Amino acid sequence: MNLAFTSDRLSYRPLAMDDLGLALALFTDEAVTRYVGERQTPEAIERSMPDCVRRGGDGCIGIWCVLRRDTGEKIGTTVVLPLPIESDDTDYSLVVPGEWPQGDLEIGYLLRPGAWGRGYATEIGHRILRFVFEDTRLEEVVAVTDPENHASQHVLRKIGMREEGMRRAYATECSAFRLERSTWQARGTSFDR
Ligand SMILES: CC(C)(COP(=O)(O)OP(=O)(O)OC[C@H]1O[C@@H](n2cnc3c(N)ncnc32)[C@H](O)[C@@H]1OP(=O)(O)O)[C@@H](O)C(=O)NCCC(=O)NCCS
Repeated sequence: MNLAFTSDRLSYRPLAMDDLGLALALFTDEAVTRYVGERQTPEAIERSMPDCVRRGGDGCIGIWCVLRRDTGEKIGTTVVLPLPIESDDTDYSLVVPGEWPQGDLEIGYLLRPGAWGRGYATEIGHRILRFVFEDTRLEEVVAVTDPENHASQHVLRKIGMREEGMRRAYATECSAFRLERSTWQARGTSFDR
């Protein structure tokens, strides 16, 4: 499976150990972590890197580094990962080569603040859905946000995910979204993706 791909302005490749600088920039930033947990210490982020670079299934479950194609700048990450329900973080023990975890898989994205407001999250969302439904065997994906994260909810609506109200995830109540392969396929090219 080819795990490196592109969209109009961005390129994507599996997160690697030398993306520590990007992880530090994201997870020590109060604006980035506002709706996705707490800021972390640099030591904790460095310790978590071996987990963050793990890949499950045939490689399609994990984290991607997202870069601008014009400058090569690392602007953020996007994920396909098992959705935690009663834990406040991903259970990386479920991310194992050759294994397909039970339960929902979530898509998500984190961008450095300098990259916000340019439509990048929408572009990433469209592209990761295309990856999921064109290049993997997954039949559906979900996404969750903090109920106050209106920007992310807007992105998820724009990329065509269906709102499901509130649900339990990350050990709290979250706004929930879902998309099935059949719905994605039925939209064909009439839907902006
Ligand atoms: C949320 C996040 C991914 C958005 O990234 P982005 O690249 O700025 O998003 P886009 O530009 O593609 O789209 C954002 C949309 O939300 C809108 N928006 C921004 N702030 C908003 C708010 N407070 N309420 C409602 N809509 C808002 C924008 O106007 C835009 O919509 P439009 O294109 O129709 O005008 C980015 O801010 C981020 O990484 N935040 C920190 C991590 C995070 O919260 N990730 C999501 C976890 S669920």
